Amino acid sequence: METKVFKIDQDENLIEIDQVVKILHEGGIVAIPTETVYGLGGDGLNPKSIEKIFRAKNRPMDNPLILHISEIDQMFNLGKNIKEDHIEILKKLWPGPLTVVVERQDIVPDEVTGGLETVAIRMPNKKITRQIISKLGRPLAAPSANISSKPSPTNAHDVLQDMEGVIDAIIDGGPSQIGIESTVLDLTEPVVKILRPGYYTKEMLEKYFGQVDMDLALKDEKQKPKSPGQKYKHYSPNAEVQVLVGSDQEFRAEVQKILDLNKKLGLDRKIGLMVFDTDLDFFLGENVVGMGSKEDLSEMARNLFATFRKMDDNSVELIIVRGVEEEGFGLSIMNRLKKAAGNRVRRI
Ligand code: TXA
Ligand code: MG
Repeated sequence: METKVFKIDQDENLIEIDQVVKILHEGGIVAIPTETVYGLGGDGLNPKSIEKIFRAKNRPMDNPLILHISEIDQMFNLGKNIKEDHIEILKKLWPGPLTVVVERQDIVPDEVTGGLETVAIRMPNKKITRQIISKLGRPLAAPSANISSKPSPTNAHDVLQDMEGVIDAIIDGGPSQIGIESTVLDLTEPVVKILRPGYYTKEMLEKYFGQVDMDLALKDEKQKPKSPGQKYKHYSPNAEVQVLVGSDQEFRAEVQKILDLNKKLGLDRKIGLMVFDTDLDFFLGENVVGMGSKEDLSEMARNLFATFRKMDDNSVELIIVRGVEEEGFGLSIMNRLKKAAGNRVRRI
């Protein structure tokens, strides 16, 4: 299958929008840009499209998909028993990087929910994607557009790396602004609960929802996560990933030790570093990447997955990442890093 590539223009319009809607209408699958990561979209009410998505990603069938909508009213066709005050809050936070889990309506295919009695819904903050949903007149099921367990794609190149020849089309909407996936928030219990941390932190959400809990599984690996996706290995490049958390001095000394040992033992491992910009003066080399500053983690988030993929393209064998404190947005970044590192996270 030839994967068609469509590009949006400067005003974020797509001349071929009707062609894309037709593909989706006929059960095809199309990679779409969103503000978080690229999604692999298909008609969310068509089990055939859903099946294609799972197959393209090689995704476990029990890991449910998010339905993307373009208008708040579409919520009511897909979910039920949604509190009036939650709707009012969603009107403020959407479109945006927040996914909510609510009780499902019968219209939602079992294939989407992985057999759960709930459904995940999000209104993405990308105009072209909302226009497509609106023209399709149906929700767009869209998991991240990577092969399962790989880092999520945040640009068209990275999508094609995994999906070229496997999907009908991709819309190139430029790089994703946020770079990590939406916060998944469960609205079905008396106190709302974060199932997957993301751009919207607990602190930000508490301003709207009052008390916000964190799923226990996010802190304690022995707990069963309520979001099935959290139990799988994720976001991992081919290279081994090690995350080191510590002060500037401690971090730099530890990295130097690893580099020295690599040389001394003649291991000759190709090592990549993902560090803060202020560390760059201390480490020279082709696979040393500045991820922005400690004070503003948005650059780190934006470039995280794409940098993992670049390291793989350069055949890096070990990636050492400078970890961050697990608070605020740092908690979401560490959630992705821990999964990428298979928990090889060390505090020094
Ligand atoms: O930012 C995002 O959320 C991106 C863009 C494309 O919208 N999408 C995304 O989808 O990250 P995916 O499929 O890679 O992750 C969806 C997560 C999974 O962890 C899944 O288990 C969880 O949402 N999820 C979906 N439905 C659920 C449900 N009914 N209950 C609990 N968790 C659910
Ligand atoms: Mg994903």
